[in-house]
Amino acid sequence: MDLQASVVTIVSFLILALSQAQNLQPFHGEYGPFNETYYDKFQVERPATINNNALQITPDSINGDFILANRSGRVLLNKSFILWEDDGAGGVRVASFNSSFVINIFRVNNSKPGEGLAFLIAPDLALPENSDGQYLGLTNSTTDRNPENGIVAIELDTVKQEFDPDDNHMGLNIHSVISLKTVSLDDLGIEIAPVGGRNHTVWVHYDGNSKKMEVYMAEEGKAKPATPALAAELNLKDVVREKSYFGFAASTGIDFQLNCVLRWNLTVEMLSDDSVGGVDNKKLMKISVGIGVALFSLLLIGVGTWLYYLHKKKAASDPNLLGALKSLPGTPREFPFNDLKKATNNFDERHKLGQGGFGVVYKAIGLLINLLMKLNQGKHDKKLSTVEIHVLIAGSRSFSCQRPKTQAIFQIISGLVPPPHVPPFRPSFVWPSAVGNVDVDASSADTIPITSGWTPQYISRDSLGTGENTGSSVSPF
Ligand SMILES: *[C@@H]1O[C@H](CO)[C@@H](O)[C@H](O)[C@H]1NC(C)=O
Ligand SMILES: *[C@@H]1O[C@H](CO)[C@@H](O)[C@H](O)[C@H]1NC(C)=O
Ligand SMILES: *[C@@H]1O[C@H](CO)[C@@H](O)[C@H](O)[C@H]1NC(C)=O
Ligand SMILES: *[C@@H]1O[C@H](CO)[C@@H](O)[C@H](O)[C@H]1NC(C)=O
Ligand SMILES: *[C@@H]1O[C@H](CO)[C@@H](O)[C@H](O)[C@H]1NC(C)=O
Ligand SMILES: *[C@@H]1O[C@H](CO)[C@@H](O)[C@H](O)[C@H]1NC(C)=O
Ligand SMILES: *[C@@H]1O[C@H](CO)[C@@H](O)[C@H](O)[C@H]1NC(C)=O
Ligand SMILES: *[C@@H]1O[C@H](CO)[C@@H](O)[C@H](O)[C@H]1NC(C)=O
Repeated sequence: MDLQASVVTIVSFLILALSQAQNLQPFHGEYGPFNETYYDKFQVERPATINNNALQITPDSINGDFILANRSGRVLLNKSFILWEDDGAGGVRVASFNSSFVINIFRVNNSKPGEGLAFLIAPDLALPENSDGQYLGLTNSTTDRNPENGIVAIELDTVKQEFDPDDNHMGLNIHSVISLKTVSLDDLGIEIAPVGGRNHTVWVHYDGNSKKMEVYMAEEGKAKPATPALAAELNLKDVVREKSYFGFAASTGIDFQLNCVLRWNLTVEMLSDDSVGGVDNKKLMKISVGIGVALFSLLLIGVGTWLYYLHKKKAASDPNLLGALKSLPGTPREFPFNDLKKATNNFDERHKLGQGGFGVVYKAIGLLINLLMKLNQGKHDKKLSTVEIHVLIAGSRSFSCQRPKTQAIFQIISGLVPPPHVPPFRPSFVWPSAVGNVDVDASSADTIPITSGWTPQYISRDSLGTGENTGSSVSPF
């Protein structure tokens, strides 16, 4: 294998390791039975309440304590999710999610039910005014069908409007209560609000890769049906905001019902670490990704800056530096691809960064150093190694969003696009406690010192002076 191909192999391996570090754990929440502690997690838009172990999306009372007619409400998880983002290569990545919930839509005194309950993705936590009746807490007469609404909802509707197929249907709603697609549940043997009451489980699956949504429904306790009640192609990117909320909306009209959510599970793919904000994931993310990425960044900054410096000064021929490089732990004497393969146990999954693979990345960097030495000594390909070093330094930025994406790397290495700009001095480094809060940009990179707060303070022999009158009892060793 020739050297140029080897550089590409190693760089792509390193970038793969980097992108592994970005492969974040999905958000997962399991909620219910509900009690008043959930007021801290959910935005409960009155007249919605939490009582009787359920989210009461519209008021719940059989004995006439509350007004039940002409009401609307919302309960949303008080946490936004990044549902789509630029993938850094001209495309858009869309998050996948799964949700399942148990509901009880109840006829008061066995009267005729109305109007409906919906699973909702919305750009904010607010309930629109006058969204009762046919508007299901989703829109109102002014906002319905406005593409600015940014909402996707799965409605379970118990009143037939002129645009509805019947009074017992499921629908996919986009910006509007006039559904894009409807399914009569009579055909599936499901009655949303039967006389006597029944609990139902609803599963909503969305695949951000295939852009498909599937909704299943069954009586509680029964298995998820093999075929979805409703399936639709849907690119969330075209419909919802980048940052959106999940939850429920419901309404009553002249006829009314109790709109209760008894339990709720939600799993959402995390696209980038910017979206880390949820109480549930924050600690875990900080430990597993924050430290992993930061350590890796620190290492790459060190190695990258060093290589850059070496390269600029053509110091590779300096026998002392060469010796120092060779004595680095983890630096093999020979390069070949087979060594890399061996060192990583044939690129074993378990060795990737984020799962304790720091040593492997470290080894790969050692190999890279060795390779660059060869490049500098023998067939010196200045252009390629310059490009490569720029990529390496750019890849060492503290925040994943600032690093070049895999596709961009390939384009840079193959000369299709110019290498990223690298500031002339060492970029600053931010320790993980600052992850997500502090942005380090190239313009400030020259002046920010490395202040991690944990570096032990060494006192060198030289700075100690010679006399006993330094008054210091600190030993340098
Ligand atoms: C409320 O529910 C949470 C979660 O299910 C549970 O951990 C907590 O003990 C409950 N609190 C009360 C006061 O019932
Ligand atoms: C929602 O979260 C924000 C910030 O995380 C907080 O300020 C607000 O009080 C929360 N609201 C509710 C209803 O919990
Ligand atoms: C349901 O029926 C009971 C008994 O007949 C009555 O007291 C109550 O007011 C009724 N509830 C509603 C909401 O109509
Ligand atoms: C959602 O569920 C499907 C089927 O169980 C599974 O294949 C998929 O990976 C899940 N997606 C997420 C984001 O959890
Ligand atoms: C939520 O997930 C738990 C654990 O997988 C499961 O036992 C429970 O039935 C799920 N609840 C719903 C409403 O899907
Ligand atoms: C619909 O909701 C919007 C936003 O809450 C509000 O500004 C508007 O006045 C409402 N329209 C009606 C008819 O209530
Ligand atoms: C619905 O679920 C609740 C809570 O698990 C339970 O108390 C109630 O009896 C169930 N209702 C029916 C009709 O099965
Ligand atoms: C509900 O609103 C309708 C008009 O939209 C009205 O005719 C009816 O009287 C209202 N019902 C109650 C109980 O307020």
